[in-house]
Amino acid sequence: MSTPPLKKLTEPLTLFLIGVTGDLAKKKILKAIYKLHEKQLLASPFTLIGNARSPLSREEFQAYVKEIVRPSDDGTWTSFAKSLQYVAGNAADEATFAKIKALHQKLQKQRTCGNHMWYIATLPQLYLPIIQNLKQCQLHNSSCGWTKLLIEKPFGTDLASAQKLNQELSEAFSEDQIYRIDHFLGKETVQNLVAFRFANGMFEELWSNKHIDHVQVTHSESLGVAGREQFYDATGATRDVVQNHLLQMIAVCLMEEPASLNPDDIRKSRSALLKSLTGLSGKNMADHVRFGQFTAGVIDGQKVPGYLEHEGIPAESNTETAVALKLGIDSPRWAGVPIYVRTGKRLARDVLELSVQFKDKPNRMFSSIKYGPDPNILTFRFQPNEGIVLRLFVKKPGHGIELDMVPMEFCYRNTYQMDFIEAYERLIHDASNSDATLFPGHESIESSWRIIDDVLDYQRRVKPDPYPAGSWGPESFTKLIEQDGREWIEPSIDVCSV
Ligand code: BG6
Repeated sequence: MSTPPLKKLTEPLTLFLIGVTGDLAKKKILKAIYKLHEKQLLASPFTLIGNARSPLSREEFQAYVKEIVRPSDDGTWTSFAKSLQYVAGNAADEATFAKIKALHQKLQKQRTCGNHMWYIATLPQLYLPIIQNLKQCQLHNSSCGWTKLLIEKPFGTDLASAQKLNQELSEAFSEDQIYRIDHFLGKETVQNLVAFRFANGMFEELWSNKHIDHVQVTHSESLGVAGREQFYDATGATRDVVQNHLLQMIAVCLMEEPASLNPDDIRKSRSALLKSLTGLSGKNMADHVRFGQFTAGVIDGQKVPGYLEHEGIPAESNTETAVALKLGIDSPRWAGVPIYVRTGKRLARDVLELSVQFKDKPNRMFSSIKYGPDPNILTFRFQPNEGIVLRLFVKKPGHGIELDMVPMEFCYRNTYQMDFIEAYERLIHDASNSDATLFPGHESIESSWRIIDDVLDYQRRVKPDPYPAGSWGPESFTKLIEQDGREWIEPSIDVCSV
C-alpha cells in the first residue's frame, strides 16, 4: 500500500502564529515549519507573521527564530528569513489584530490573493479573546483564499468550558475550518497502530474481549515542570496528557474499523470509541483513579527537587504530577476489558507504550509446567526505541522441556534507515493541505471531558500520594492494578535497543 507523495501548496499562504515566543513555538512549532521549508513543502510564497507581547523589531524576530531553528545552510535560511514578519501586542487586545490585519493587507498588495492559517499557541486563557478578536476584525474568513484555524490543546479545562470554547469557535468558524492539534495523533508510531490493526486481518480477529484480558498504557516522563510552573500547576497530569493525548491514542488502538481511509470515517471511529468509554460517575473512585505528586529524588544520577520546592508552585499545591486510571468501554467488543493508564512527570524513564495482554487459556498441554505468570503480550513502543514486540514462549534448547519467554520484534530503526517526520511537521503540513484525519473533532473532545470531569472532581477532594522523583510513581498506582490481580508491565529497556 502506498499513499501519494507529500504535496506542496501552490497558492500563497500566510501563517499567523499567535504566541510565537511561547514554550511550544520554541520547542516544536517553529522547528517544524522550518523543516517543511527545508523540504520545500511550504506553500510558495509563504509568509509567517508572528505575534507575542515582546517588543521585537523584524530583525530581532528573525534573529530569534534563527537561534531556535539553527539552520545548517545559509541559502535555505536566507530565503526563510525573508518570509518572517512580526507584530508585537497583547493577543487579548483587539488592537493587536487590527495591526496584524494592516500588516497583512500591506503585504498582500505586493502579492496575489492567498490562503490564511491562524495558529493559536498561547496560554489557554487567551483562546476566547483571540477568537473574538479574529471575528471582530473580520479575520475569520476571507473573500480571497481559505482561512483555517489551528488551535492547541488544552481544549477547555472541563466539559463546560470545552463546550463554551466549541460554541465560540463555531460562531466564528465552520467545523471544517478548525484543526485542533493533538500532536500524539501526528506521531508516526501512533499512526502505525491503524496500519497494524487494519492491514493485518489476523490481529483484527483477536481484537476483542474474547481474546484480550486487558490493555495498559504507560506514559512516563523523566522531565519535570521547570519553566511551565504556572501552566502546569493550573493543569495537572490528567488535563495535560490524559484527557487528550492518551485517550486519543487509546481510541486509535481500540476503535472499530473505519468505513474507509477517508478523514471523516477515521475521525468518526475514534470519536465513537471515546463516546463509549464507561462513565465513572457513581463508581467507587478509589478503585479507578489514583493521583501522585513527586517529591525530591534522583533522575539520571542527578538530585532533583520535589514539585512543591519549585519557585512558582504554591507550597500547599494539590496538583497531581502523575495519575493512574482504570477505564472501561461499553461495547459488545470491549465489555469487561479494563484499560489501565499511568502517566507522570519525574518518573523513572521516558517511555510511551501501549500493551495488549492476551488471555491465558486454562488447561492447556503446558499448564502443568511452571513457566511464569506472563501470558502473551503485544507491546506498541511509541517512544523511544520505536517498535512492536510480541512476547512468546519458546522451548529452551536442551534435553528437558523448559519454556522461555522471548520477544519477537519489529524495530523501526532496523527496517527503515530514515528519520521520522516530527508530529508537528506532519500536522502543519496536513492542515495546510486540508487533511483533517489526524485532528480530533469537537465531539471526541467533549466525550473525553465527560470522563475526565469525574476524575477532576475526585482530584479536588483527595490529596495526591507522594512519590520520589525517579520512581515508577506512588505505591497506590501498584495497588490500583494489583487489586484486580494484574500488574504493571515494566517497560523493557531491551525493546528495540538497536
Ligand atoms: C504536551 C504536554 O502536550 O506533551 C507535556 O503538555 C508533555 O507536558 C508533552 O511533556 C509530551 O509530548 P512528547 O511529544 O514530548 O512526548
